[in-house]
Amino acid sequence: MKIALVGSGAREHAIAECLSKGASLYSIMARKHPGIAKLSTEYLICDPTDKEAMGAWCIEKGIDLGFVSPDGLLEKGVSDMLASAGVKVASPLRAAARIEWDKAYARTLLHKHGIPGLPKFLLVKNMEEASKFLSELGDVVIKPVGLTGGKGVRIMGEHLESSEDALSYISGLIQKDGHALLEEKLDGEEFTLQAFCDGTHLSAMPPVQDHKRAFANDTGPNTGGMGSYSTGRLLPFMELKDLEDAQSIMQQTVDAMRSEGNPFKGILYGQFMVTKPGIRLVEYNARFGDPEAMNVLMLLRTPLADILNSISGGSLQEAAFSTNCTVVKYLVPEGYPEDGKKDSKIDVDERAVWDCGAKAYYASVYEKGGSVYTTPSRAVAVAAQDAVLERAEEKAECATRAVHGQLWHRPDIGTPALVRRRVEHMRRLK
Ligand code: AMP
Ligand code: GLY
Repeated sequence: MKIALVGSGAREHAIAECLSKGASLYSIMARKHPGIAKLSTEYLICDPTDKEAMGAWCIEKGIDLGFVSPDGLLEKGVSDMLASAGVKVASPLRAAARIEWDKAYARTLLHKHGIPGLPKFLLVKNMEEASKFLSELGDVVIKPVGLTGGKGVRIMGEHLESSEDALSYISGLIQKDGHALLEEKLDGEEFTLQAFCDGTHLSAMPPVQDHKRAFANDTGPNTGGMGSYSTGRLLPFMELKDLEDAQSIMQQTVDAMRSEGNPFKGILYGQFMVTKPGIRLVEYNARFGDPEAMNVLMLLRTPLADILNSISGGSLQEAAFSTNCTVVKYLVPEGYPEDGKKDSKIDVDERAVWDCGAKAYYASVYEKGGSVYTTPSRAVAVAAQDAVLERAEEKAECATRAVHGQLWHRPDIGTPALVRRRVEHMRRLK
């Protein structure tokens, strides 16, 4: 089977690694990704929204199946472009990816179909509505409705000190977008549940906890995600009911989309929070998480190429995963996330990474003249697994020392001390 993968970050590097084991990989990327290029039978460097170039290449190469990975490209309808070139696709069409690129659509869909797990929310179009919601709820969370790379959300009491700050952020969003999403501020522990979905059936992957804040102990600005861990079927702060409730919310969402003639085929990503009154849906994404994809793909026992084929054909079966623990840590350029240092040379000592018992995946870097250079975004992810979380963390931490350059990372991700704090946080809340 010839599979075309569109995208070129660390998440796609991990996807490419899985696909290259069971299929011939044909990659489409905006710039040469050193890892994916090596794994590919052939690759095309082009603007991934160039429908003509991509379509012609897929036809020429006889591509059987296409998978579009990043959110921005799903929003631009790149799955639709592949489909119109006669390629079967295993990633959502633009209309279905709306579950991610339009937070108001996601909230309204769940509300309309009576699906549980919604926080209180209001889509505001003027400052009167905003002030009223604020005075009713106290501290709220403010979100742009569209895609922001995980960096647009502002939480009162954390990023915003006063209601004046909050109103000024809302006012800016209304001026720019015409509206802003306000939500009740939730307190709890978050987990990511990713599921393969063929429009009808879901097959859930192990839950993962991501770390959005830049600095140790969850301080500093939000990022695309600094690292993540998983511990088999449940995370240490979860109960089985939390997982079952999350799966049920996702199944009901997929059923609702199908009933509205907008079936979701691809990877559905639910961001949930375990709170005192039960689990709440923070957001949906229409793709694998980055870094969370690396946690689950390390554990996947069913060939990914077969799964994608069954997603496209509507015949998805339950996928199998190992129950090992995993830790992923991102190395990011100095100055990230506000002003990441670009064009800075880095070097991954792959032998040393291997000796640590880990793997390295290239993220937003580019190759030129045989060397690898940073962009302002995340640079390299290191990933490890073990039956014991502590060992997986040590392997990943060891691998960070095998990546050289002007980079930094969060040493606390996946450590027993941080995981203990999360369990205690949950115990205090309940
Ligand atoms: P999002 O881009 O919607 O995933 O939000 C980014 C992060 O903001 C989430 O991972 C949460 O940590 C936080 N967040 C979003 N919505 C809420 C909420 N209603 N209450 C508390 N925290 C939230
Ligand atoms: N890790 C968060 C995301 O992929 O959106």
